[in-house]
Amino acid sequence: MGNTIPFGTTPQGRQVELLTLDNGQISCRILTLGATLQALEVPDGQGRKVDVVLGYDTLTEYLENDGYLGAVVGRYANRIAAGRFSLNGRDYTLAVNNGPNHLHGGLVGYSHRVWQVAELTDTQAVLTLDSPDGEEGYPGHVQVQVTYALSGTSLTIHYQAVTDADTPCNLTNHAYFNLSGHDSGNTMDQELQLRAESYTPTDETSIPLGTVEPVEGTPMDFRALTPLGERIDAPFLQLQLGNGYDHNYVVQGDTGTLRPCATALSRRSGIVMEVETTSPGVQLYTANFVPQGRKGKGGCAYGPRHAFCLETQFFPDSPNQPAFPDALLRPGKPFDHTTRFTFSTLQ
Ligand code: BGC
Repeated sequence: MGNTIPFGTTPQGRQVELLTLDNGQISCRILTLGATLQALEVPDGQGRKVDVVLGYDTLTEYLENDGYLGAVVGRYANRIAAGRFSLNGRDYTLAVNNGPNHLHGGLVGYSHRVWQVAELTDTQAVLTLDSPDGEEGYPGHVQVQVTYALSGTSLTIHYQAVTDADTPCNLTNHAYFNLSGHDSGNTMDQELQLRAESYTPTDETSIPLGTVEPVEGTPMDFRALTPLGERIDAPFLQLQLGNGYDHNYVVQGDTGTLRPCATALSRRSGIVMEVETTSPGVQLYTANFVPQGRKGKGGCAYGPRHAFCLETQFFPDSPNQPAFPDALLRPGKPFDHTTRFTFSTLQ
């Protein structure tokens, strides 16, 4: 059971596999490199299958291009200021790989490691990763397990991790969604609703200021379904800093409970996506830094704003932000978070 084909060999000689899951309603492809969601096909309003995530056809492109398309990122998703934090009286230094900051786990984060396939059926893949003590500067030996599962028209991603010493841990998937089809260009006409009353504004290097600000009365407000592009170029400092949306929103409700996070839709394809999560936050990123003309699957061309990401997560830079939800993984208290993407069509 379960379909696997070779996807190439890394310069270090590790073979990468491409796994296919298909339940007859939706299907997806997952790479063992980065436990990456390489494709996700869902029915559009006419019943045709549409691939709604950006990706590449070759391993080389995944290894050489930045952007983390579809990858599971860790040990700590998003940024840690200056690559530094203190924990239990010790100072830790991580790789600085994004301006002055640490981003998405460092130089060789989980997105760039080859994962093991622990289990594979037609509808479920369990991938595991061993993250040694000291990897990329983080303390503690962490064992990670990510499960992709299809059920009905839902894709569920379940993140689990255990450690033998205290460590920051923040796991997410960095899928770039385009609900009109991955190769259909600009997404600014696609509509988004976020179950968030507030967000965490950042400095010019995308590090949170430490405050939690209401979205009300600002172009950050997605409490009602709104086209992504409607206010993206508004003269609002937070949008100007990141060249679009690149912000952590505080998801309403209790962390640890699977609850509504976002709804997004394309009126062109008729595809609707509901996102639920147990995580405290979600990063809305409008693919601001995807280079114009970047070659994607099937030879198509991607560019800035050709996708949006909804990275469910702990807040960026939590290890240095005492007021943010605690993103510390401790021995005996596993990381256990779930995000579910459910697809339907407009009536
Ligand atoms: C970050 C962006 C970054 C992107 C790709 C997002 O999670 O917030 O600033 O450019 O990932 O690395």
